[in-house]
Amino acid sequence: MPENTILSIKHVSLMFGGLKALDDVNIDIEKGEVLCIIGPNGAGKTTLFNCITGFLRPSSGSIVYDDDAELIGKKPHEIAGYGIYRSFQNLALFNQLSVLENLLIGGLKRSDFSYGIMDTLLITDKFKKIERGLRSEALSMLEFVGISGRKDMRAGELPYGERKLLELARGLITKPRLLLLDEPAAGLNPTEKTELVSAIKKVCEQKINVVLIEHDMRFVSDIADWIVVLDYGKKLAEGLPEDIKNNRAVIEAYLGT
Ligand SMILES: Nc1ncnc2c1ncn2[C@@H]1O[C@H](COP(=O)(O)OP(=O)(O)OP(=O)(O)O)[C@@H](O)[C@H]1O
Ligand SMILES: [Mg+2]
Repeated sequence: MPENTILSIKHVSLMFGGLKALDDVNIDIEKGEVLCIIGPNGAGKTTLFNCITGFLRPSSGSIVYDDDAELIGKKPHEIAGYGIYRSFQNLALFNQLSVLENLLIGGLKRSDFSYGIMDTLLITDKFKKIERGLRSEALSMLEFVGISGRKDMRAGELPYGERKLLELARGLITKPRLLLLDEPAAGLNPTEKTELVSAIKKVCEQKINVVLIEHDMRFVSDIADWIVVLDYGKKLAEGLPEDIKNNRAVIEAYLGT
């Protein structure tokens, strides 16, 4: 695997009954680049994220992280422990809890905190110290994505675009090295998309690798260094945004001709 590769996906296939959801997919994700995965509905994009994060097990192939860790066969929590965080296509926030509480819950899963169930139940000094540190991290994370004014609001009451930013912040507080975002811009209006693009660009400046699934070609061109196109579970094309936009096979897959 080349030294500059953070994730190497080789010959990954996965069947759902008779349907080949992924068919011999090969993708190398370079360190420091924003990779966008595009493709029509049902192309296998989410399935690929599920394979990377251990929610599904491919029938063949390998997925090697950072040069040495084979991810296939590992459990989702083990994979998260490597610093791989994924968001879900449908928002998975705790709507009844405040914005800040949503972040604290995300942060408590982090492996650099060691505390036991008794620390939590008895609210020991150790737990209080962890919580205090995390609270200040959470506040700066909200500032980072631009919604610090909303910290006490219930997550469910946030405008949709800000909920997406909260979800991004919840990913960031886990201190990921690789952030996988499943259609983060879906349902956003143009202003919200612009805000999300600038937040994601700031994330990249923090040396966090970003892979995102997206439908909107304009959004993708704004942010992607490299694009992979999936269609019927196969890699149809990959390349620079300019090349993909003009690729005949890609245009045909999208227009369905
Ligand atoms: N758990 C499952 N069981 C059976 N079939 C599934 C399952 N999950 C996905 N599929 C099928 O696998 C194919 C790929 O689905 P996937 O969700 O990965 O597509 P996608 O590219 O993410 O699409 P979208 O753009 O609609 O989110 C589809 O045909 C889908 O119906
Ligand atoms: Mg999907």
